[in-house]
Amino acid sequence: MSHKNILITGASAGIGAALAKRYASNPQVHLILLARNTQKLQSIITVCKKNGATVEYHSIDITEFTKLQTLISKIDSKTPIDLIICNAGVTSSIGENGEAESWDAICSIIDTNLYGVLASLNPLLSRMQQRKSGQIAIISSLAAYRGMPITPAYCASKAAVKSYGEALRGWLCEYNIKVNVICPGFVESELSAQFDGDKPMMISAEKAANIIYKGLAKNKANVSFPFPLDLGMWFLALLPSGISDWFMRLFSYGAKR
Ligand SMILES: NC(=O)c1ccc[n+]([C@@H]2O[C@H](COP(=O)([O-])OP(=O)(O)OC[C@H]3O[C@@H](n4cnc5c(N)ncnc54)[C@H](OP(=O)(O)O)[C@@H]3O)[C@@H](O)[C@H]2O)c1
Repeated sequence: MSHKNILITGASAGIGAALAKRYASNPQVHLILLARNTQKLQSIITVCKKNGATVEYHSIDITEFTKLQTLISKIDSKTPIDLIICNAGVTSSIGENGEAESWDAICSIIDTNLYGVLASLNPLLSRMQQRKSGQIAIISSLAAYRGMPITPAYCASKAAVKSYGEALRGWLCEYNIKVNVICPGFVESELSAQFDGDKPMMISAEKAANIIYKGLAKNKANVSFPFPLDLGMWFLALLPSGISDWFMRLFSYGAKR
């Protein structure tokens, strides 16, 4: 693995923490972990250091966009980032009786899942272009393929970052910069626990991190998993909306009637 300096946002829990631990098994790696919860970050760091990597962490809210960009510029000047994994994310859903998501919830989702990704990458794009190297991984979701009625703002945010990553890949390949969009299905975490519906083919965060790790090593444009759910979501997007809405209701992800 050629990466040395790896920055992961949302590294205090779930997929981000599992990715940190996965990359930490290489002693050549320097990990830069970002999240808000210092206590949780510190416990991840203890494990990562035991695994062999050197680690630094920064407690930051990625919706503080100016502060975030200043921090990432500073980090990159000191330790040029070889791989950034934009992973931090939040979700929400409509109410039990079909109530709309609150404006606060919608803003939090768009600020974290969309602007947080754009702000994380903005200071790095021209730097990576100048270096003619680097890798960018954006954690989207299978929910980007077809809007799920119970979680509209989340699906919108994930479709937006999927599209952004696809655009970056085409633009930045001539600068030798790799860009990968990751679309997980259900992964055990605090985030997925917020969904009441069925979670078919749910996997552990560790298993998800391993799939992502391998996909990034192969520079796959799109790392979507698990395969049957990936195929199902792709198919749902092709079906007439009445039929795909029926399927969504079957798995408790459609609006109630
Ligand atoms: N779990 C799934 O089923 C699933 C499926 C598809 C895609 N995803 C995506 O995978 C990513 C990770 O999700 P997860 O399931 O691992 O969720 P998680 O366990 O809830 O972890 C979310 C991470 O994001 C960080 N975070 C949230 N808001 C932040 C903010 N404003 N500033 C800085 N850090 C923030 C959290 O850290 P702090 O709270 O410490 O800040 C935490 O480390 C998300 O983008 C999610 O949309 C998850």
